[in-house]
Amino acid sequence: MLHFDVLTLFPGIFDGFLSESVLKNAIEAKRVCVRLHNMRDWADDKHATMDDRPFGGGPGMVLKVDRVVPCVENVQSMESAPGRLLMLSPQGRKFDQRFAEELAAEQRILLLCGRYEGFDERIVEILQPEEVSIGDYVLNGGEVAAMVVIEAAMRLLPGVLGDEDSSRFDSFSSDGVCPGKRMLDCAHYTRPREYRGLEVPEVLLGGNHVEIARWREENGRERTKLKRPDLLDK
Ligand code: 6GU
Repeated sequence: MLHFDVLTLFPGIFDGFLSESVLKNAIEAKRVCVRLHNMRDWADDKHATMDDRPFGGGPGMVLKVDRVVPCVENVQSMESAPGRLLMLSPQGRKFDQRFAEELAAEQRILLLCGRYEGFDERIVEILQPEEVSIGDYVLNGGEVAAMVVIEAAMRLLPGVLGDEDSSRFDSFSSDGVCPGKRMLDCAHYTRPREYRGLEVPEVLLGGNHVEIARWREENGRERTKLKRPDLLDK
């Protein structure tokens, strides 16, 4: 069971995400647990402000250290063992499949979602979270990034995907079309065998599994060279 504690000012953003499809099933099967914590609930009163204007001036609002730190400490203390604390921030370590694999091996993960212009720097100094970014662009807040992290990690847990759509052969997986190499997945086809003159590669129609595996590896490699040559350099 992988347990996520999400700390956010907007828990409603997660409603549909948690109640549909693969994640819903995994939660029902008790392979994943996602607990939402509204950081405002830890403010002294319900109207207490969570953010304030930045010292030195400038646009936007900053999340307050005296609100966020007690909140994270409180959520940590809800279980006997503290969780791995991740802070969603465009300044963090770039999230990738390797990172997702790392997280899937954890028992408990806290995801701290910011909003506005960011966190008071002392929050980082005191809590020393691992900062995580999902890419080089700016979002309004960490919530969508937290959903990306949860989804990428949970689908790697045993029993979450059916055998048919096992994550083992995904793009970027070390176990993909070319074991040991992280590259893009091969092309896939289903019926009809011919559509508007386009045929399914002949090798996939025969039952020669050695030939099929060889074709898939070669196809994955060609697609990677064409679309993401940077992956082959690694
Ligand atoms: Cl984790 N947060 C925000 N606000 N923007 C981002 C991001 C995270 N990752 C990429 N852009």
